[in-house]
Amino acid sequence: MTMSQDMDHGRGVETLRWRGGALEMIDQRALPARFEYLRYGSAVEVAEGIRAMVVRGAPAIGCAAAYGVALQALTLRQASQEAFATGLEEGFGLLAASRPTAVNLFWALRRMRGVWESNAQRSAPELADLLLNAAHEISAEDVRINRALGAHGAALLADGARVLTHCNAGALATAGHGTALGVIRSAIESGKRISVIADETRPFLQGARLTAWEMVQENIPVTLITDNMAGHLMSRGEVDAVIVGTDRVAANGDVANKIGTYMVAVLAQRHGIPFYVACPLSTIDLTVPEGAAIPIEERSADEVTGFRDCRWAATGVQVRNPAFDVTPAELVTALITENGVVQRPDRESVARLFSS
Ligand code: MRU
Repeated sequence: MTMSQDMDHGRGVETLRWRGGALEMIDQRALPARFEYLRYGSAVEVAEGIRAMVVRGAPAIGCAAAYGVALQALTLRQASQEAFATGLEEGFGLLAASRPTAVNLFWALRRMRGVWESNAQRSAPELADLLLNAAHEISAEDVRINRALGAHGAALLADGARVLTHCNAGALATAGHGTALGVIRSAIESGKRISVIADETRPFLQGARLTAWEMVQENIPVTLITDNMAGHLMSRGEVDAVIVGTDRVAANGDVANKIGTYMVAVLAQRHGIPFYVACPLSTIDLTVPEGAAIPIEERSADEVTGFRDCRWAATGVQVRNPAFDVTPAELVTALITENGVVQRPDRESVARLFSS
């Protein structure tokens, strides 16, 4: 893995890109201090990049995993049919084990497997090309979906709305445009004046580092708060709507998202503020009946006891670090999808999204 420097601020930010036969991903751990791409040439490297959160955000993780499969196939171009199958299976396994909560990862792997299985009679070089094209298509489709979702969501925001968001569900969390921040971008493109309140998002600081950076690049008004300030602002009438992204929506409409989202949803209900979830259909998991069954990633204690080289917690303290929580469907005002807006989601309305 080698590093390359590049600067592409604003709308054109390319979270992932294919360059010279390799995948390049913005190192999101380094933002906003440093903007740089890291280069990935194999499934094992991409899996590590996902685990270490070089790339993060459910749709971007799915796109990266698709490229991981394609890279594995490219390294197996000269292999026999049997060795190709064994090697590709190994790549699928590595990528599937990288992070557990974002279902887009498994969705993308399933789609790549479908391409492989329906072309199983082809040669290894042909399969590698087909898998690379499928990865390109998954990324291109992600941007189209976010634009469609953004247009539906934009209609929900009033001119002048002050919108609170948690974590980063922006261009950096997707192949482009973003989901929650995509709704905000689309509303602004349609002529509305929108301002953003970004929760800092302890412990990994996706709000302070990534959402704030994205908004500042595009001159979208953004105010940063620590996570424990949201209730105060809501109680003063300073928040008109909440929009967040999601890592997995259960069949009953329960929503898993970045740790702290549940707290925001409870507060929003208390203050009569709409709580919207921007959610591509690839994030809905009909195999999981309700939120309690969604696997929640537990990350390293280091993320809670300090940040980078600075440690502030007492040595010897026990730590919990669940990276996601579940917001019950009853707290969700609407799911915003590429197929339209589902008010007050429940099992029936979520299922209907897939029947049209
Ligand atoms: O741990 P992360 O940074 O991958 O968590 C990301 C989130 O929680 C996002 O809100 C979610 O993946 C939706 S991104 C469009």
